[in-house]
Amino acid sequence: SDPNPLQDFCVAINDGDIRNGVFINGQFCKDPKLVTIDDFVFSGLNIPGNTSNELGLAVNLADISTLPGLNGLGIGMSRVDIAANGGLNPPHIHPRASEIFLVLEGTLYAGFITSLPEYRLITKVLQKGDAIAFPVGLIHFQLNIGKTNAVAIAGFSTQNPGIIRVADASFGSNPPVDPEVLAKAFRLDKCVVKNLQSNFNGKT
Ligand code: GLV
Ligand code: MN
Repeated sequence: SDPNPLQDFCVAINDGDIRNGVFINGQFCKDPKLVTIDDFVFSGLNIPGNTSNELGLAVNLADISTLPGLNGLGIGMSRVDIAANGGLNPPHIHPRASEIFLVLEGTLYAGFITSLPEYRLITKVLQKGDAIAFPVGLIHFQLNIGKTNAVAIAGFSTQNPGIIRVADASFGSNPPVDPEVLAKAFRLDKCVVKNLQSNFNGKT
């Protein structure tokens, strides 16, 4: 759903001075004569990610830094590994992308939540071969409820989906949100909020 390209491709130039240049809806284009097949190929998606972390999660995202040929094409993808027995891709939002998520291995309890007027939870237990669509901007998650590791491939409707993890953004922002705000919003005691903030601090 990104803007349509006006040329065959615009392979992103990934050198340091992008950051200091003009940056509007994409990156500068490499001279087309210097473009090679490597600009369009991303390898290693067969390799399991390291899920030895608190969530039991590894996400290997093919974005314009690793696959510069994606620039301007309006698509992206990732490999998601979720550890057996409770690994979690926690509730999160992609502000700029719808997602299509294909389970290659394992059993995942996945779902998303609609926006107002009703926060409706829509879920399904996914098996190998199932694909689920997560609409742009909605909170969604996947929990591994199986006894084996899960592997999925996610496709995105943009080169730059962005990610906002609900818990991390709320309790792990930098600088932290005033506990009074979070206590009222989450209907928690301020001490609980401070405790949560210290748990998330530096881990997001
Ligand atoms: C899965 O939901 C992902 O964003 O990788
Ligand atoms: Mn997602």
